[in-house]
Amino acid sequence: QDETVSITITPETAKDTISRHIYGHFAEHLGRCIYEGLYVGEENKIIPNTEGVRNDIIAALKELNIPNLRWPGGCFADTYHWKDGVGPKAERPTIVNRWWGGTTEDNSFGTHNFLNLCEVLDTEPYLSANVGSGTVQELIDWVQYTNHDGVSPMADWRRENGREKPWKVKYWGVGNETWGCGGNMTAEYYADIYRQYATFMPGWSGDTKIYRIASGASEDNYHWTETLMKNVPHQLMEAVALHDYAVFNWSAKGPSVNFDDEVYYKTMDQALNMEEYVTKHIEIMDKYDPDGNVDLFVDEWGGWYDAVPEVKKGVLFQQNTIRDVMIAGTVLNTFNNHARRVKMANLAQMVNVLQAVILTDEEKMILTPTYHVMNMYKVHQDALLLPSRIENNVEYRELPVISVSASKDDNGANHISLVNIDPKRSITVDIDVSGMDVDEVSASILTSEKLQDHNSFDNPDKVKPAVFKKFKLKKGILSVETPPYSLIVFKAN
Ligand code: AHR
Repeated sequence: QDETVSITITPETAKDTISRHIYGHFAEHLGRCIYEGLYVGEENKIIPNTEGVRNDIIAALKELNIPNLRWPGGCFADTYHWKDGVGPKAERPTIVNRWWGGTTEDNSFGTHNFLNLCEVLDTEPYLSANVGSGTVQELIDWVQYTNHDGVSPMADWRRENGREKPWKVKYWGVGNETWGCGGNMTAEYYADIYRQYATFMPGWSGDTKIYRIASGASEDNYHWTETLMKNVPHQLMEAVALHDYAVFNWSAKGPSVNFDDEVYYKTMDQALNMEEYVTKHIEIMDKYDPDGNVDLFVDEWGGWYDAVPEVKKGVLFQQNTIRDVMIAGTVLNTFNNHARRVKMANLAQMVNVLQAVILTDEEKMILTPTYHVMNMYKVHQDALLLPSRIENNVEYRELPVISVSASKDDNGANHISLVNIDPKRSITVDIDVSGMDVDEVSASILTSEKLQDHNSFDNPDKVKPAVFKKFKLKKGILSVETPPYSLIVFKAN
């Protein structure tokens, strides 16, 4: 077998922009994501914070240019009653977080905290609303509270609670996983419920166009997407969501660090399914919506392993290794390459839960390998997708080893993100960049000695990007020696 993989980039066929929202995040009231993670409380004198949110996390997220943040769940969203989380903190009721460990939620982090944080981060909020145990009125009230500029009961209440101007929230999820924790509905039943909720949501947001996001399918549930596209009038729905985690066995997901080669293979097998799922859900959407009026949002994705043994039962927390780099790199390449229809994605979850970009331990905070992927790939945000074609891809068992996506930014710089998932082999990749008018190339690489390598509070920089030089540019061909389990981002001018 010839071990050289050929890639051709075809800028002459470029037409789609890679929405920056593909690089979105997700914060859920789950384990130590919000409390003891993002939010340490306004009264905290030990950890520097802004309105209770850790300043070190704010700085790290600003560096990533996070385009949007989804909140408050997840499964939690369909148990959440937003009115419990506004007004004087001492008067807020508690609730039990029934999906995640039965912890008592004191509602101290609520709508104002979240939306003010989004302003600090200069990111678009995405509110995931309660359909499973909420009401239409409760959702309309939330839209009115956050978005209405005039005189209305909810806008007046917002002013009483200290916020004069509306936040103008664009992105609204109408339920979460309504086929499961959001109400165990059938697709047909949810499509009807969705129509009802969506009807009453507009009208409170002035010039801000709101995006109503239908709770979508999991993995290959094509019937769900087909039903939504067929049964919901498209003027009521701006986006359909999809959830897909890289999990090979839901009852034994395997450890986040001490996995062997077999588990690595199974995880990558699952992660790479994203390409097929996205392709097929888009095919269905194209059939019912050929003009592309409804977007596909993958509003939960990432690796999901067994929680580390130290955490309370029912709560999620996992470490993050080079395997997660491979998941993020390949999945983000898929999203970039499907930029025509995939307009948003949200990595689950930002701090201390699944494929987190940040982990905390009391005062300490570290950046995970996945953080570095998001930082290296941010060059693709709002850039023009340069379509690419892979020939003679080599296989790791039956999985394609090399994955790629490319884009050109507003300043004319081209970026190519290349991933080699093979656990053992270096692979030569010849990239035909002759159509791109390139004479200067630089690159950075993310890899480590072992697939299991990760950052810890004792060794926070074990995995970090480095300058990469194992490439040559000759006669329009960029020839690259990609090490095993490596992710490389090139800048080419
Ligand atoms: O991310 C953890 C959970 O996964 C979310 O709460 C839910 O939406 C999904 O099942």
